[in-house]
Amino acid sequence: MATLGPTVPAGTADSPPSFPMRRSGCPFNPPPEYETLRSTEPVSRAMLRDGSTVWLVSRYADVQAALTDPRISSDSTIPGIPLAGGTGVDPQGRRSSFVRMDPPEHDVYRKLLVPDFTMRKIRTLRPRIQRTVDDALDVMRDSGQPADLVKLVALRVPSVLTCELLGVPESEHHFFQTRANVLLERSVPMNELRTAVMEMRTHMLALLDEKRRNPGDDILTKLAHAPAELELADSELAGAAQSVLNASHESTASMIALGTLVLLEHPGALAELKADPALWPKAVEELLRYLSVGDLVLPRIAKEDVEIAGQRIAAGEGLYLLAASANHDKDFFEDPDTFDIHRSTRGHMAYGYGIHQCIGQNMANAELEIVFETLFRRFPDLRCTVPLDELSYKHESAFFGVHELPVTW
Ligand code: HEM
Repeated sequence: MATLGPTVPAGTADSPPSFPMRRSGCPFNPPPEYETLRSTEPVSRAMLRDGSTVWLVSRYADVQAALTDPRISSDSTIPGIPLAGGTGVDPQGRRSSFVRMDPPEHDVYRKLLVPDFTMRKIRTLRPRIQRTVDDALDVMRDSGQPADLVKLVALRVPSVLTCELLGVPESEHHFFQTRANVLLERSVPMNELRTAVMEMRTHMLALLDEKRRNPGDDILTKLAHAPAELELADSELAGAAQSVLNASHESTASMIALGTLVLLEHPGALAELKADPALWPKAVEELLRYLSVGDLVLPRIAKEDVEIAGQRIAAGEGLYLLAASANHDKDFFEDPDTFDIHRSTRGHMAYGYGIHQCIGQNMANAELEIVFETLFRRFPDLRCTVPLDELSYKHESAFFGVHELPVTW
């Protein structure tokens, strides 16, 4: 299997190892240090780039328990919460997303939005998802070879579909897609990031007004008509819509691109899936577990002193709950570093766990099933033109991924 370069130096008692750690062996498996942490120090100190320290929780049982412990908070306004992927607070000091709120505030948004993401609701969207995937693959087919699957398919499909779910008119999809892409670029200067966020916010506010005048069957209309007793300001409603857009974009795009690579690297499994497409839902769950792209998406802070696996965490100390490590814990999944489309993936934590568990998981599963089934049916000879270890990976993004995926067919 290809390697991706040197690992982060191991820490010492005086200087803990740096976090985020890198996927230095196989790009599909979590950083190799996680295995050592699970067996030697399941709750351990690590140092962030800014010199602050956090606790890493690496075993399945401990991650799961911490995700349901009300003393462990997601509130991004509490000083000390480790947000490697950004501040989680907008320029006015408000939380930028309900994913970074605790109950009871968080419950309000969750209750409002859950009905738009039920299995039943998403089932009705499948023909629309299929058309979006077909359109993206038509563009890829016509673009000449090699084509970048990340740009033409992986980023495009989730952003078009989430814009539709929200009720963003088609003429404005491009506006939101370009701004959402800016947010994914770590090299973009802070002022450009702020501009992109504020432009999205201004546009969302205008769309809320528009939905009050011309309601549709979409999430923005629902937010625009939120019951007055909830006392949500327009900026908060626009923030909720933006959260859905941002949360769906990079996560699903990373899964589409890396999932394609995993399937290309496992021709036996791919042949089985082509012969029996009913296996795709199971294979998608295994891709989610195996790849666990959301290494950095579970930052938390202790609101009170807590003990995890015998280690005391003081109130005010930050934690990362390593879902990728939990999903590769031998005590929960047999032979976890092997990709096996027939295994039981029950209990995987790629979508988190507890009150913040991904609201869009039914949507994401449907997108992934349809993308992979259609891609490999329409392009049976699909190949990546660059060896695995020469691709450029997104090691420090909230969602691990690949910058470009050049393919021919
Ligand atoms: C394969 C793709 C996806 C992955 C791996 C993923 C992963 C996650 C994870 C791990 C969380 C929990 C974060 C936490 O506990 O702090 C989360 C929350 C969330 N996700 Fe996803 N997600 C994906 C796709 C989507 C999609 C398609 C949407 C919407 C269309 C979405 C919307 C959200 C929202 C709004 C939250 C916050 C939920 C809350 O705080 O109650 N996600 N996601």
